[in-house]
Amino acid sequence: MRKPVIAGNWKMYKLLGEAVDTALALKPLVANANHCEIVIAPVFTALKTVADRLEGSNIKVAAQNCSTEVSFGAHTGEISAEMLKDSGCSQVIIGHSERRQFYRETHGSVNRKTKAALAAGLTAIVCVGEMLAEREAGSAENVVKGQLVSGLDGLTVADMESIIIAYEPVWAIGTGKTATPEQAQEMHGHIRRTLAETHGKEVADNTRILYGGSVKPDNIAVLMSQEDVDGALVGGASLEAESFARIVNYK
Ligand code: PGA
Repeated sequence: MRKPVIAGNWKMYKLLGEAVDTALALKPLVANANHCEIVIAPVFTALKTVADRLEGSNIKVAAQNCSTEVSFGAHTGEISAEMLKDSGCSQVIIGHSERRQFYRETHGSVNRKTKAALAAGLTAIVCVGEMLAEREAGSAENVVKGQLVSGLDGLTVADMESIIIAYEPVWAIGTGKTATPEQAQEMHGHIRRTLAETHGKEVADNTRILYGGSVKPDNIAVLMSQEDVDGALVGGASLEAESFARIVNYK
């Protein structure tokens, strides 16, 4: 059984006080949600404080990025996966399309970051997804396959237990244009078939595949009703405790 994951990506929003307020407001609203794993991803500077304040709750804390480098060293401005773990994170989002598009993240860096996350004992939420032009050109499935094959290159079957995939079509992120449930299911099925090719059927059957891109309280249930949709990565609608709680409590 794949336990659903509902993750909130706070992107570069919220100063420390607001991050804590939102996390504390969320806590009672989702306290009874046992049907899914709940994750929030604040900015780096809020991670430790938010994680401390959520200790003992059912809300996990994720970072939004980590360094490709695993050892301490002269890497000014970088934060290692081990440091994230040390700050109370259990997860990290890797290869978000905003990082691929605007910060030149490549297949290679996504792969190195994923390995760094696993080495530190974090769960990696690895993001894939095509641009609008790629979908219109009919190459969406190939693009996503390429991202998966290179992003997960060299990972063992055991490593895959700490991998969550997030399918986020770039044209649906922050646009209010959600993929239809059928489009999501189609791509999630393709991702699962690709995982079966790269790591075998058991890994494919056990890996959670989240959908992301304009997920809201009023479309989560229909997305979750799709066979291969195992949760959501939520941006805008995760910023307010009340709306994120409604997504978590979609059942
Ligand atoms: P959105 O963002 O829900 O605001 O579309 C999703 C994401 O970027 O993870």
